[in-house]
Amino acid sequence: MQHYLSINDIDSLSDWVTEARALKNDPLQSKSLGKDKTIGLLFFNNSLRTRLSTQKAAINLGMEVIVMNFGNEGWALEYGDGTIMDQGTSEHIKEAAKVVSQYCDVIGIRAFASLTDKEKDEAEVVLNGFKKYASVPIVNMESSVGHPLQALADAITLAENSNKTKPKVVLSWAPHPKALPHAVTNSFVEMMQLQDADFVITHPKGYELDSTIIKNVPVEYDQNKALKDADFVYVKNWSSYTDYGRVLNQDPNWMITKDKLCNAKFMHCLPVRRNVVVEDAVLDSEQSLVIDQANNRTYAAQVVLKKILEHLK
Ligand code: CP
Repeated sequence: MQHYLSINDIDSLSDWVTEARALKNDPLQSKSLGKDKTIGLLFFNNSLRTRLSTQKAAINLGMEVIVMNFGNEGWALEYGDGTIMDQGTSEHIKEAAKVVSQYCDVIGIRAFASLTDKEKDEAEVVLNGFKKYASVPIVNMESSVGHPLQALADAITLAENSNKTKPKVVLSWAPHPKALPHAVTNSFVEMMQLQDADFVITHPKGYELDSTIIKNVPVEYDQNKALKDADFVYVKNWSSYTDYGRVLNQDPNWMITKDKLCNAKFMHCLPVRRNVVVEDAVLDSEQSLVIDQANNRTYAAQVVLKKILEHLK
């Protein structure tokens, strides 16, 4: 595998989950694979889990790690071709990506959606700019439209906690005071389409997701109906996709409560706003898998980096 940019870069989800679980059992089994290799992690946005788990994964594989908060420490990058750079940007992606490629054998990029310009966000200018001009593999650490490391960790968590061949998995929108991107949701939906599951999405009207990603996944606008007999409830806020980036609804009745969850397991990528998205009683219960999901971020990243390193050999 050359790059890990989206869920589509996974050739067999079940094989990757099996390999990730084997790495979790014995994290240092491939400690020599990354010897003398360096990964550079460039963050254009904040992070806790992605930053630390990807570093941990690289360390487990014997790699050296360089981390840069590019968003507030790097030069403002220009992505346009032929731009006269007499405004705010100081360095072109053409030079920046080639320079970083000389220091690093693999580059991880985190660059969120602006939520103001759908066309620009969907063009993935930062991720695709690095992909185009870097000479080393690129790992998506959450871009405008996808968070495939999170979705792979979620697949591992589902596999670890499911005792049914075809569990019912519900993706539920929940309220949030700020406009949030669609990346986590998109990758989760794409990942679920590779699973044998009874998968349903629930959200208020106006929060319809990109139809090219949703495809035939059923949408139930009545949250209570959707949650009936669920085995797993994956909760996430997202802003409107059609009325791009707008918060249309903050109805607190969409918050996930212990009553609504019933016997299901609760999942969320974190960070999560307590008592807005989900009540304390859920997060503090045995039904919550959020800490396991965060733990599995290490092994999701580790299987991705392992495959890239094997390809580099
Ligand atoms: N879930 C996730 O990506 O967490 P961070 O934003 O803290 O990295």
